[in-house]
Amino acid sequence: MRTVRRVIRGRNTQDGAGVKLRRVFANQLTEELDPFLMLDAFDSKDPQDYVAGFPWHPHRGIETVTYLISGLVEHGDSLGNKGEITSGSCQWMTAGNGIIHQEMPKPSEHMLGLQLWVNLPRDKKMIDPVYRDLTEKEIAAVEEPGRTVKILAGDYAGRQGPVEGITIKPTFLDIDLQPNRDFAWEPQDGATVFAYVFTGSGTFAPDDSDEHGQGDAVLWEGSGGIQVRAGANGLRMLLCAGMPLKEPIAWGGPIVMNTQEELKQAFAQLDDGTFLKQG
Ligand code: CO
Repeated sequence: MRTVRRVIRGRNTQDGAGVKLRRVFANQLTEELDPFLMLDAFDSKDPQDYVAGFPWHPHRGIETVTYLISGLVEHGDSLGNKGEITSGSCQWMTAGNGIIHQEMPKPSEHMLGLQLWVNLPRDKKMIDPVYRDLTEKEIAAVEEPGRTVKILAGDYAGRQGPVEGITIKPTFLDIDLQPNRDFAWEPQDGATVFAYVFTGSGTFAPDDSDEHGQGDAVLWEGSGGIQVRAGANGLRMLLCAGMPLKEPIAWGGPIVMNTQEELKQAFAQLDDGTFLKQG
């Protein structure tokens, strides 16, 4: 069985034009979390916390995965792409060689969701951008005794999630556990596996009785399966697994490359207007 390596508590902060969010991790545990770079979580019933949004900003060398349990985010980019991320849907965006976009949350009763940054391998950092919009309908929901498991990527119980062709072979499961019920699963060998708790609490290994809850991320280590048991109020979590890239990281805000030289080039291109691939 895998055991709990660490619990990551994150901190409340602001980003974009003043969006209040929980920065669960970024920049400090890149080796342990490889291929996952950053996780921001949103949980607010006050639109003033988030309507300022994330106005125009660039990305290169990464993928951003935005998943909303509830809420609404409008998206637009410099290539003319436009869309909405609605309750229960997910946008898996491969920035590749570069996009400049904005992500603007709109008022809703409860904005509950997250954005995860996934690193791209060296040979994919400069591919053309790709959008994958996963509607709630496309995301299979498996009903089992005591739990509902939504499959955004990877496979579970013989069902396949809609995200394909990603180097890290991701598994993304949104798991809703009823009180005191279990979830067990076996990730692929060598994968980095963590869970982020949206609501409720639970234990994350059979021999570890410490409960972790809302706003915590739990990172496993070792090999074999994982076992989670919900506490008295149930547990809603996103379970993420992916194969580490084990490549050097040069990180400059929204741009993550392999070398300082590549970073310098990206920022020079932003300055002189040649950042986006022409035509
Ligand atoms: Co962005």
